[in-house]
Amino acid sequence: MPTQEFIRNEFSYGYSSGNILSDTPDPVTAKEEAAIGGRYKDVFMSVVAPYLKPGSRILELGPGRGSWTLAMLERGPECEIHTVDFQDLGRWINIPALKGRLVHHQVEQGHTFAPVPKLHFDFFFAWGVLCHWGQADIQRILTGALTCMKPGACAIVQYAAWEKLDAYGWERGGVPESFRTQDDKDIWWPRNSVSEMVNLCRNAGWSVLKADCGIVQRDGVALLSVPG
Ligand SMILES: C[S@@+](CC[C@H](N)C(=O)[O-])C[C@H]1O[C@@H](n2cnc3c(N)ncnc32)[C@H](O)[C@@H]1O
Repeated sequence: MPTQEFIRNEFSYGYSSGNILSDTPDPVTAKEEAAIGGRYKDVFMSVVAPYLKPGSRILELGPGRGSWTLAMLERGPECEIHTVDFQDLGRWINIPALKGRLVHHQVEQGHTFAPVPKLHFDFFFAWGVLCHWGQADIQRILTGALTCMKPGACAIVQYAAWEKLDAYGWERGGVPESFRTQDDKDIWWPRNSVSEMVNLCRNAGWSVLKADCGIVQRDGVALLSVPG
């Protein structure tokens, strides 16, 4: 499975999904939407926007250049957003200009959420992140994130679901079919499935409200909550 060093280096240029709220997708967003089999704006409006209530505190893992972060800032003007990434989000977003609405935690060591406030957040979001981690790492990430969440908080996490990828088509999904026969340590889209993801989430202490919201064709998107 990918190592932290690999992920840090692989995305050091600053990954962008484009302007995900644009009615007419820009070329970057359009390419991703064709690969994932869904419209990002629809995803955002159906499973992210409902959590952007005034006063809500949002925790996002792996913003990259902040495509989803910028959308949350736009649609949740009274929310507080914390982001965690190996990369410095301040290279791409003018964080001081946001006057405290966005707090970025650049980390050397992933998965632990060590610098992030505990029992503080209402919503956890990770897109384009868990799909690159092996199952042991996913469980560690979800365990770490849980320590930051308030009881009753929710999460939306996108993840690799190989059975959906099989049905959707590897080439169409932009994932090399050669990965099928390769070891997890050698590929950047490690094995996972909807049922395995349910176990990982539960083992990390989350309740699974929906194992897959069914909003994109290639991947799983889980809706989770914090028990209590
Ligand atoms: C593929 S990019 C996705 C960016 C953005 N979420 C999007 O969809 O446009 C993944 C990002 O997550 C970060 N990342 C992945 N795992 C991480 C971890 N455990 N801790 C910190 N950052 C992580 C990477 O550095 C990278 O910037």
